[in-house]
Parts: sequence; structure tokens; C-alpha cells
Amino acid sequence: MISLNAHAKLNLWLNITGKRSDGYHLLNSLFAFTEFGDQITLTDSNELTLSINGPFANALSKYEPSNNLAYRAVCLLQEVYGVSQNVKIELTKNIPICAGIGGGSADAAAVLTGLNKLWRLELPMTTLASLALKLGADVPACLYSTPLLVSGVGEEIMPVTLPIQTMFVLLVNPNKPLSTPSVFQKLNYQAETKSKVNYQALPTLNTQKDVLTLLKNQTNDLEPAACEILPLIRQILSEINGFKNCLLARMSGSGATCFGLFETLNDACNAQEIYLKNHPNHWAKATQLLM
Ligand code: C5P
Repeated sequence: MISLNAHAKLNLWLNITGKRSDGYHLLNSLFAFTEFGDQITLTDSNELTLSINGPFANALSKYEPSNNLAYRAVCLLQEVYGVSQNVKIELTKNIPICAGIGGGSADAAAVLTGLNKLWRLELPMTTLASLALKLGADVPACLYSTPLLVSGVGEEIMPVTLPIQTMFVLLVNPNKPLSTPSVFQKLNYQAETKSKVNYQALPTLNTQKDVLTLLKNQTNDLEPAACEILPLIRQILSEINGFKNCLLARMSGSGATCFGLFETLNDACNAQEIYLKNHPNHWAKATQLLM
């Protein structure tokens, strides 16, 4: 048996830099992960099964298990490596669904990492990452759970060190799922509108202030498209920005989850409390970035 954390991912910025002939968009993004996430337990079994509990289990109950990325990760390893063993997957779904913070991708990455150990496959990270890409553009990055500079459609991954001891974050989701393909479609990407910044390496960063200055100069290029579909995102961003000591507010991925960065846990928790008091039907969670 093996238990793993599937950490939520944040796009601290997300630049769209091109579009491939297959319709996938090229991006340049600084990824970070939060302590908060889903939990996955894998146990040897005669049958491949997936059971889901936790606050967002209901949201997943209408989907067939075979559509779940965690389940598909098992099938992929079985198929590619001719594994006949099976596994019982127990998933505690804490991360909202279709929320832009990589819940499904993190689960799939955790299953690949877990089964690599449980089944003693001893696959190197590069092999795991190319398998992960077959499951989704964000899955390779989720194998790392540390800050990363990501480009291509998600396959070019460079771990980066940020001069930050720790930083706290408030995650907010209006409990309205947003489909990633519909946001990309709305973006209506044209070559001439492409983002000018495409980092191959981070500029020199010596202090937390340097990091924040860099982040503030960047954007999430998917924000306008997501706001067109769900204008509430604009209001959420402005509310997060207004919280005491909020350093930066931004949308993650294709939305609708937005995040605020804070220097102290106390500030992030206070913001969570106020937000939930004002929006009892939304979801909010104060957590910490993994550095
Ligand atoms: O790979 P993933 O399942 O996350 O992508 C979902 C959809 O989002 C894709 O089918 C595509 O329409 C869009 N997408 C994209 N460019 C990316 C990632 C996703 O156009 N880099």
C-alpha cells in the first residue's frame, strides 16, 4: 500500500506564445504547487477499482471511473509495460473539479509516481513525464510539485529555485466548473496577439521582492477569455486584491480558481474567513506554497 499527496498547481503567470497545428496552444508559465491537495492511496488488488470520497466526490460521481485521469494512469502503465497486476485506488477529492488548479492532473501524476514504486518499475522521471503527457498537458509538471518554468504545451519543464522561504495563498473558486477547451476556444488565438514574453530561464532573482515584481509584470493570458465566459471571475479578483496585505491576485490556468498571495498564514486565513462569510456558496482555502 502506498499513500500520496496530489498537490494543487497554480500558474503564477501563464503566457500563450503560439498554437500548434493540432490546435494545442504553446505556453510559457511559472508553476507552483500548494500544500493543499487531494490524497491518493494505492493498494494491490485483484481488480482495478476507484473509490472517491471527500468534499468534491459528488461532483465526480456522474462520470464513469474510466474517464478519471487517476484510473487512466493505471491503464496506461498496464498497457505500456504489460503489467497484469491491479490496484485499488482510493481518492480523497479535496480539489474542486474543472477549476484550473490541476486536480485531475495531480491525481494522475500521483498514481504514476505511486505505481512506479508499488510495481517496482523503476522508470526514470523522463519516461514518467512522457507517459504523463499522454494523459494531459499539465500532468508532467504535476510529477514535480516544486516551482517550474514550463513551456511547449507542458512538456518542457525546468525546475527553478525562487528566493522565497515560504509564501501563503488563498484559493477561491465560485463552485462553477469552467471547461478548459471552451476557454482556449474563446481566446481565439491569433499569432499577432501572442504574448511577447517567453522565458527560457528566469531572470536573476535575489529577494522575494524581485519575485513579486516579476510576477506583477506578468499576466494570465487566459484571464480575459475566462472572464468573458464567467464575468464573476473579475469580481473575485477584485475582492481578493482588496484583502489586507494581499501581494498579488490572479487567476490560475483556465480558471475559474483565483488566488491571492500573502506573506503570512494569518493574513491568508483572515481573507478566507471574510470571503466565505460574504460568499457562503463559494469555495475558499488558505494554504501554503511548496518551495
Ligand atoms: O491536456 P488537457 O486535457 O489539459 O487539455 C484540455 C484541452 O484544453 C485540450 O483539448 C485543448 O483544447 C486545450 N488546451 C490547449 N493547449 C494547451 C492545453 C490545453 O489548447 N496547452
